[in-house]
Amino acid sequence: MKLEKIVVGVIGLGMGSGHLKGAIAYGAEIGMICDLNPEKLKKACEEHNIPEEKTTTNYLDIVNNKEINTVILATPDQQHREQVEALLNAGKHVMCEKPLALTREDIEAIVKAVEAHPECKFMIGQICRFTPAFVQAKKYIEDGKIGELYYVESEYAHDYQHMFEVNPTNWRSDPVRNGVVGGGCHAVDLLRWLVNEDPYEVYAYGTHKLLPEVTYDDANLAIMKFPGNVMGKVFVSTGCKRDYTMRTCVYGTKGTLIFDNRSDSMKVHFADEQGHGAEEAQTVPVEINNHNATAEFKVFADALVNDTEIETTVYEGAKTVAACLAIVESSKSGKVVNPDYNF
Ligand SMILES: NC(=O)c1ccc[n+]([C@@H]2O[C@H](COP(=O)([O-])OP(=O)(O)OC[C@H]3O[C@@H](n4cnc5c(N)ncnc54)[C@H](O)[C@@H]3O)[C@@H](O)[C@H]2O)c1
Repeated sequence: MKLEKIVVGVIGLGMGSGHLKGAIAYGAEIGMICDLNPEKLKKACEEHNIPEEKTTTNYLDIVNNKEINTVILATPDQQHREQVEALLNAGKHVMCEKPLALTREDIEAIVKAVEAHPECKFMIGQICRFTPAFVQAKKYIEDGKIGELYYVESEYAHDYQHMFEVNPTNWRSDPVRNGVVGGGCHAVDLLRWLVNEDPYEVYAYGTHKLLPEVTYDDANLAIMKFPGNVMGKVFVSTGCKRDYTMRTCVYGTKGTLIFDNRSDSMKVHFADEQGHGAEEAQTVPVEINNHNATAEFKVFADALVNDTEIETTVYEGAKTVAACLAIVESSKSGKVVNPDYNF
């Protein structure tokens, strides 16, 4: 089914405020915005000239609003399952923030709910797939510029301390939410996307030295094997003493790419005609746009209006969480874990 007009509801105005801008940039009509915090609603209204009557603190007002056909869900991870189910049952198209959910039970339930509503489009918001440096790296790989991949590594290094200083019981401190599934899912999803395969074997370590507010490890290191003899590594730190970054390296038989999400260039090494590694890297400029919500919403909206494909399906979201859960399990058990991608 093709929508003639997109009328959007946005639930949660943290990351959701970026999505609101993306929806407005696309030209979608804003049906209603929702947040528990009236101050955030007021700010969004002032910024985008949204009338007060289009605001609510109860997300069920969006669920029950007949005009709204499309919803951006950007609430804390723990709430995704219940809200996705309610929205799909009400016939809404849903773009849900990553991670899909935090537990196996919840991701399975969301997959089932999406399957039960083929009339509704669903997109998981893996926004890194729209980050310019990552898009450029994907293109180099797909164009065969660095040959066959044999090693990939990425990281999610993001200090959460400031969030806990504002509120020690911030939803990110909930024991069901750990740094690997919550934030590390960006790095895991990036590697799954770049390799175009799912890691089938994972071994991981964890440590906890930085965030007293949480009971989970605040740093994890995972090594993994992908089909096609590709090795991978993911580092996650949610208390790190540095600026937020996702440093990433991709090694192929004909070249190497070194890049991240916050720099205005990437380093590209191509082997010379004799196959020697280049001593000097080429520096390729890239736009800095770590939260490219405009490009992300456009893909979702195009799918609604033109019935085009959505690459980041519910299965992509579920597989990324499954790989993250394997990292957490291996960190705890000290054993190799094979992620379960059976959805
Ligand atoms: N894609 C990304 O790069 C990225 C970045 C940050 C967060 N996220 C994800 O986005 C989601 C939100 O994270 P955040 O950083 O915006 O968190 P946040 O705490 O900054 O903001 C969440 C907002 O949701 C509101 N809220 C909570 N429960 C609600 C409810 N039931 N109804 C309406 N509003 C509610 C809160 O008042 C708050 O304003 C999470 O799933 C998170 O993992 C994604």
